[in-house]
Amino acid sequence: MTNKNILVSAVGAVCLLILAFGSTSSAQETNNDAVVPFVLPESGPFKPEDIRIDNQKAITDWYRSAHADQAAEAFSRWDSDEGIRPACAVCHSGEGFRSYHGLDGSEPGIPTEPIPAGGVVDCGTCHNEGLRDIKEVLFPSGVHYPVVGAEAACMTCHQGRTAGTTVAAAIEGKDLDTADSSLRFINPHYATAAASWLGGYGGAGYHYEGREYSGLFWHARPVSSCNSCHEPHSLEVDFEPCQTCHQGETPQDIRVSRLSHDGSGNAAVGIAYDIRGNSETLIQMIKDYAESVTGQPIVYEGGQHPYFFNDANGDSVVDLAEGSPVAYDGWTPRLLRAAYNWKLVSSDPGNFAHNPDYTLELLYDSIEDLAGPLDIDMKETDILR
Ligand code: HEC
Ligand code: HEC
Ligand code: HEC
Ligand code: HEC
Ligand code: HEC
Repeated sequence: MTNKNILVSAVGAVCLLILAFGSTSSAQETNNDAVVPFVLPESGPFKPEDIRIDNQKAITDWYRSAHADQAAEAFSRWDSDEGIRPACAVCHSGEGFRSYHGLDGSEPGIPTEPIPAGGVVDCGTCHNEGLRDIKEVLFPSGVHYPVVGAEAACMTCHQGRTAGTTVAAAIEGKDLDTADSSLRFINPHYATAAASWLGGYGGAGYHYEGREYSGLFWHARPVSSCNSCHEPHSLEVDFEPCQTCHQGETPQDIRVSRLSHDGSGNAAVGIAYDIRGNSETLIQMIKDYAESVTGQPIVYEGGQHPYFFNDANGDSVVDLAEGSPVAYDGWTPRLLRAAYNWKLVSSDPGNFAHNPDYTLELLYDSIEDLAGPLDIDMKETDILR
């Protein structure tokens, strides 16, 4: 669908909604000229009668949010394909989501056919009578997490696509420090907020033997669900309510822990900085390990699948073979599990608010695991779990 078509159908949609369901209160508040048109996803099925449009604000906020951004890679990637692959459509289109949960009358489960491209996270994804009946959401680890209402939606799409057990199965029985060309990078996918939030209980991270992991981040009652922090349409986090209990200018400034986790000794900045510090330490150790233990330097390129590439001459530039980047093929089990945890943590920019404890544990354990072969004494780093 071209942008022009969006606008044309959008104007029609707004007229339809305002005429059919427009509430007088919002019409009084809002100058109709200023109303941002909203996109009716071509893929439907969109049932206005399922939604009570009490105000224009929800529509406007949603329209400006990432969920409505039809041009984003997450929605436009399939535009030139026959349709969205069923396994992908569950999270990349409202229609695929409804099919997965059987909200469209189909049998629940991965859709059986490709879903038409062009869908976004439309209104009917979260405003759907059937959501009430969804009592649990299945995570990649096999955990069934009990949900209430709209939470079912967020939990389904922001759970990532892998579990620590995916990595454990891939490396099982292999020598920890021997490169194995059958190993490939395992990508946890993106925007994995719900996976962070569930922590050790959700099992998204690779869990090292003999270690315990914090479970769900209960936090505090007023901020204990996705929508209590994120406005569900704009998706933004309003900082003001946080200030009842926390200090600082932004969420990134918040700190409760009195320990400095990243070895800096600085406990005056937000916990987000400790996480960032340990993340940087870990990716550097991943590179050092690859070079000194396997003798096959590795380079990370965030914008390109599968993210880790060969770098035979160690110049930090991805190696090419006939013009194509060469995926890293020197994985040892130890390297793979550390890189997986690092990528999982990096895939959630809100990790410090979703589950700081679990995030710090995964980083610490991965750093410690690589420290051995790199001859680094953890005590000297001052890094804490
Ligand atoms: C469990 C839900 C889920 C499934 C299943 C899923 N994705 Fe995603 N995917 C997401 C979410 C959420 C994002 C949004 C990340 C962001 O951009 O914030 C995303 C983002 C992406 C992106 C954009 C990455 C970027 O850099 O912006 C691509 C490409 C993608 N997914 C491909 C796929 C493919 C291909 C499949 C099927 C093989 C798939 N996804 C299955 C949830 C899912
Ligand atoms: C990602 C999920 C999601 C999507 C997509 C979504 N909503 Fe909502 N919406 C919610 C949730 C959750 C609430 C309840 C908010 C609350 O209780 O505070 C809500 C509340 C509302 C309300 C009540 C007033 C308000 O703002 O709280 C209206 C009206 C509304 N939505 C309309 C829409 C329309 C129209 C669309 C599409 C343009 C849409 N919503 C898309 C999740 C969503
Ligand atoms: C059908 C799948 C789906 C559902 C349901 C869903 N999301 Fe998303 N969400 C996505 C995708 C895909 C993206 C990335 C979109 C993009 O790149 O434009 C995203 C992006 C986001 C973002 C990132 C915004 C930004 O500025 O980058 C937040 C925050 C978010 N979602 C929160 C939520 C919350 C809270 C809920 C539940 C009320 C929810 N999502 C429900 C698929 C979903
Ligand atoms: C305690 C409040 C809180 C809760 C609960 C919470 N979030 Fe967040 N979330 C944040 C903060 C803070 C950020 C960082 C973004 C920022 O600084 O504005 C964030 C970031 C995100 C992002 C990344 C946005 C981006 O810019 O790429 C996504 C996606 C997201 N949250 C989804 C969710 C989902 C889904 C849930 C429920 C499982 C959830 N969040 C629960 C506070 C929260
Ligand atoms: C009712 C009080 C309360 C509110 C409101 C609240 N928090 Fe918290 N927050 C806490 C408590 C208590 C902890 C410590 C929890 C723990 O460690 O188990 C905490 C911990 C945190 C941490 C981790 C700090 C660290 O050093 O580990 C972050 C980040 C955070 N909150 C972010 C937020 C954000 C963002 C908001 C607003 C969207 C928010 N909080 C609102 C009470 C609150």
